[in-house]
Amino acid sequence: MGHIQITPSILNADFADLGAEVARIGSADWVHVDVMDNHFVPNLTFGPTMVEALARSSDLPLDAHLMIEDPDRWAPGYAEAGARSVTFHVEAATAPVRLAREIRAQGARASMALRPATPIEPYADLLPELDMVLVMTVEPGFGGQKFLDLCLPKIRRTRELIARHGGDIWLQVDGGVSLETIERCAEAGADVFVAGSAVYSADDPDAMVAALRERAGSAARSAAGGE
Ligand code: DX5
Ligand code: ZN
Repeated sequence: MGHIQITPSILNADFADLGAEVARIGSADWVHVDVMDNHFVPNLTFGPTMVEALARSSDLPLDAHLMIEDPDRWAPGYAEAGARSVTFHVEAATAPVRLAREIRAQGARASMALRPATPIEPYADLLPELDMVLVMTVEPGFGGQKFLDLCLPKIRRTRELIARHGGDIWLQVDGGVSLETIERCAEAGADVFVAGSAVYSADDPDAMVAALRERAGSAARSAAGGE
C-alpha cells in the first residue's frame, strides 16, 4: 500500500474565494477538484478554465474528479489545463484504455472512478493502464452526504486486485469521509482520502487534514499488524 495522502475537496468551500480557501489547507497532499456537468450528475461546478486558474494560484497539485459525460472527449483537456491527476468515471467512458493512455500522454496520472453500484471486477484487466482507482463511497453529485458502508467490500476487493497485479496503484475513496469513517476506509485498503465537508466545515481545515492523516495512518498500521 502507498503512503497515506489527504486530498481535500473544495466542493464545499467558498466558491467566491477559492484561492484563499485552498491556502487554508497547506498541509494537504492534493486539492480535489470536483468537475460536474449537470448531465452525468445533477449538479454543475467548474470547467477547465477554473482548473487552469487554480493550478496557477497554488503550489498544491490538482486532482481533477470528472463527473461528466463523454470524458473521452474532455478529460485530456483537464490534464492540459494543469491537473496532475485526472479521474474519469468508467460508466461514462467509451474507450477507457485509450482515454487513460491519452491522459498519461499529457503528463498526468490517469485514474478511473466507480460509482457505488459499479463493480471493479470487469475492469481488473485495465489496472496496468491506471495510476489510481477511485471507489466512490456516496453517489456522486453533492458534498455532505452520508458514507455508504456497502462500498467497503469493494475497497477490499480492489486492494486485492491491485496487490495481485503488482503495480503501484493508489486507491482513493471519496464521499462522506470524516474522522468517523476514515478508519474503515484505511483498514479496507484505501490510501488516498478525499474529504470535503469534514475539512471545510472544520474551524481549522489544516488541523483537520492533520487529524485525518493521523487517524488513517494508525488504522492502516494496525490493519497491517503493526502497533
Ligand atoms: C461528491 C464529490 C466529492 C465530495 C465529497 O460527488 O465527488 O468529492 O465533494 O464531499 P464530502 O466529503 O462532504 O462527502
Ligand atoms: Zn470527488
